[in-house]
Amino acid sequence: MTVSERKPPYLRSALDSIPPYRPGRKVVGPDGRSAKLSSNESPFGPLPSVRQAIADAAADLNRYPDPAAAELTAALARRFHVPEEHVALGAGSVGLLQQLLEATAEPGAEVVYAWRSFEAYPLLTGLAGATPIHVPLREETHDLEALAAAVTDRTRMVFVCNPNNPTGTAVRETELAEFLDTVPEHVLVVLDEAYREYVQDPRVPDGVQLYRDRPNVAVLRTFSKAYGLAALRVGFLIGHPQVVDAVRKTLVPFAVNHLAQAAAVASLAAEQELLERVAVTVKERERVRAALLADGWTVPETEANFVWLRLGEDTLDFAAACEQAGIAVRPFAGEGVRVSIGLPDDNDAFLTVARTYPKRN
Ligand SMILES: Cc1ncc(COP(=O)(O)O)c(C=O)c1O
Repeated sequence: MTVSERKPPYLRSALDSIPPYRPGRKVVGPDGRSAKLSSNESPFGPLPSVRQAIADAAADLNRYPDPAAAELTAALARRFHVPEEHVALGAGSVGLLQQLLEATAEPGAEVVYAWRSFEAYPLLTGLAGATPIHVPLREETHDLEALAAAVTDRTRMVFVCNPNNPTGTAVRETELAEFLDTVPEHVLVVLDEAYREYVQDPRVPDGVQLYRDRPNVAVLRTFSKAYGLAALRVGFLIGHPQVVDAVRKTLVPFAVNHLAQAAAVASLAAEQELLERVAVTVKERERVRAALLADGWTVPETEANFVWLRLGEDTLDFAAACEQAGIAVRPFAGEGVRVSIGLPDDNDAFLTVARTYPKRN
């Protein structure tokens, strides 16, 4: 019997619905431009103080990291004025999403979220063997009434992505508080605030205020976006001890590595400098959106570091036009294109493609 004739090992059927990983291609334009506006990253490299902290921490790489990440946990607790028992860490907030699912989901359990939203929700829900329940967006934004109506006694968790990836839209405080009050206490509501630092509208709530008197609400934040540490993989959850303890139990041991812990602590110490960079991105976001609107595009209001163009059947064609100019964007076939805000020059190059594209959305 040849190797190819042998039976493959038994694998979980949950894997069948998950597409194989396909790495993104690097695109290069005729003028040598290669702009990555496809992953909502910060266009800025780490601050010198953060780089130094990483270099110093590299001296200890022969040791396992602190499994409790005590220094980072304490720094986050101070920063957000919460007890240390309310803070859990993960390898990126995507790691925390997986930990949450491991803690709450099982076959038969339902996980409810708006759609379209963050691609990891269906992927990780499926992997956990739970059933995803998709609630369509209304005017590119969460339909909280429909979300509440989709909660059943099988629901274990609801994700509210605020601002929403990929549309950039954000729900306001009054409607979110009302929604939270209608969700039964046994259902965990996760406020995914990966883009919180980019929010400008004061009516968009800070989840860290909303969770305080609600034991079934937890907030996810990350160092990957505004803090510019995407490659290091560190995110955190703020919630009540029952949720935090469950999430801590499901962390792969040592998953939050030593360099990530050191860089995150240093980033919190340099928060002011980092927020100045966020202000640059927010200004660029407003400039890009205004230019697109002036050129006749429809672009929802965005509170994140990206803009959304609903292009329907033109989606892949528009993304190809961007690629030809050396700009990688994120297309969702048949739906639209998400474009991250980069450095001004790359944003200008994107605006030129949009301006010269023969159609509008
Ligand atoms: C809404 C949302 N949540 C979470 C994440 C995960 O970020 P990370 O795992 O890098 O913290 C992302 C990343 O794109 C996101 O868009």
